[in-house]
Amino acid sequence: IIAIDGPAGSGKSTTARKVAKRLGFMHINTGAMYRGITYKIIEEKIDSSNMSKINNLLNNTLIEFYGPSDSILYMDGIDMSNKINSTSVTKNVSTISAIPDVREKMVKYQRQMALGKNVVLEGRDIGTIVFPNADFKFFLIADLNVRAERRKKELQDEDQNLSLQAIMDRLRDRDHKDASRKHSPLIKAKDAIGLNTTNISIEEQVNFIINTVNNN
Ligand code: DC
Repeated sequence: IIAIDGPAGSGKSTTARKVAKRLGFMHINTGAMYRGITYKIIEEKIDSSNMSKINNLLNNTLIEFYGPSDSILYMDGIDMSNKINSTSVTKNVSTISAIPDVREKMVKYQRQMALGKNVVLEGRDIGTIVFPNADFKFFLIADLNVRAERRKKELQDEDQNLSLQAIMDRLRDRDHKDASRKHSPLIKAKDAIGLNTTNISIEEQVNFIINTVNNN
């Protein structure tokens, strides 16, 4: 188990995908799972305080990963990749992922999916809650302006016109919500290796992780 945690835009997803590909491991993007549930809650117009409807949704939704290094999220057999990065999902995902029942279900899923496999998991609480005994733990960070620049390149549709300042404000807001929630907040595990990606390339990040894994 390789755990990669860190704030939004720190480079987790790209790094995790490439590390998984090079090592031939499965890749579980746990943020995508929280985004998928958030998408469904928005689509079905469920209020974030309506726990019976949210639990019903959690119990009746099949979550799987397929594709290259298992990087693509499917819910009830549908490829969710072009749905889960919208502005409305990004705006609401921190609220939905702070709900204890949602976290409990997702963590259970994540542990089940990883059972007996070689896996790279990325998220916010992998090294602290999901797999506190992970073989390797990394915590990625990067300066806010660099994270915002990276995010800007990924934005689609009407979001492409967002100013860097607006993107920075949103990232800061999401980091704050993710790090200050009561249930499994974003925090560096004591035994995680910190990696500041502000001034290094994706290739360097990937090599650092692979070298650490291979040399231990
Ligand atoms: O990695 P991401 O930015 O796509 O994640 C989206 C949100 O999901 C993030 O703002 C907080 C939540 N999340 C979480 O609470 N726990 C995780 N393990 C992964 C993501």
